[in-house]
Amino acid sequence: MAKSIGTCALIVHGGAGAIGPANERANRKRGMLEAVRRGAAILRRGGSALDAVTASVTALEDDPLFNAGYGSLLNSEGAVEMDASVMVARPQADGRIGLHAGAVAAITRVKNPVLLARAVMEKTGHLLMAGPAAERFARKAGIPLCRAEDLISERARERWRARMQRENRANLVAERAQAHGTVGAVALDVHGQLAAATSTGGVPGKMAGRVGDSALIGAGVYADAVGAASATGHGEAIIMSALCREAVRLLGRSTPTRAAQLAITRLIAPQGAEAGIVLIDTGGRIGYAHNADSMEVGTFHSAKGISHRRAAPNAAKPRG
Ligand code: GLY
Repeated sequence: MAKSIGTCALIVHGGAGAIGPANERANRKRGMLEAVRRGAAILRRGGSALDAVTASVTALEDDPLFNAGYGSLLNSEGAVEMDASVMVARPQADGRIGLHAGAVAAITRVKNPVLLARAVMEKTGHLLMAGPAAERFARKAGIPLCRAEDLISERARERWRARMQRENRANLVAERAQAHGTVGAVALDVHGQLAAATSTGGVPGKMAGRVGDSALIGAGVYADAVGAASATGHGEAIIMSALCREAVRLLGRSTPTRAAQLAITRLIAPQGAEAGIVLIDTGGRIGYAHNADSMEVGTFHSAKGISHRRAAPNAAKPRG
């Protein structure tokens, strides 16, 4: 008889955005499922939610079909600049919940920015580090640096070249039709720890130096005693609404799916923007919502196993 484990669960997203080219869908699904399997394997053997979300996001950062790590889209100057963050809510022996977070912004020479965000959380007294000094810290933390050009996939370079050659609106629309967002994961482990992680190459056409929500605790990532969240989509709108913090606050009164829908409908749609969010609560209930064309999610639950979905929009479309 299989050994039973306590409740643990994980939801991974591959970004909200366009449905994307048909010829990439099978490999994207494979990449999503691999990311979920890696996180689920950790949870099944009693590992931590933090290890699980880090493993899932690292897998997507290594996959060139996702906009994070290797395969990140390029900024207006043709370079990769990445943001990432982690947050954990850990039950303490005295019954309190310890909250810890770390994040990095405008990273150009680290293959897995989520690992650097975790190192900021675990090895510094800071919350957010940016640019070359954060990369020098990576070396000290034992995270290898690479050349900036090693992070540029052929797919990302082709898309950037095509964008540079475009001059009219129709072409911009065509580019957006291929765009996929940020990656992220949230998990609950058998010890009651909740964790969230988010990683991105940013949004199409971004200026060099622009930092998005994925580097900001409360905006692109959040976890507390009630739940954990990871966001994807239009970073400026997500920052303005502190989307993940607000969605977790709604968890106190709603199921994860309802909280996710309310957050997108009330906070993102009125800004005329598109975004998505995944949520988990202390019971291991997972939920997600988005108002883009599509959002790919992979889930694991100790009682239900693993699944994958290319989810249709289930929140209000952008207004205005
Ligand atoms: N949500 C990713 C970004 O805006 O950078």
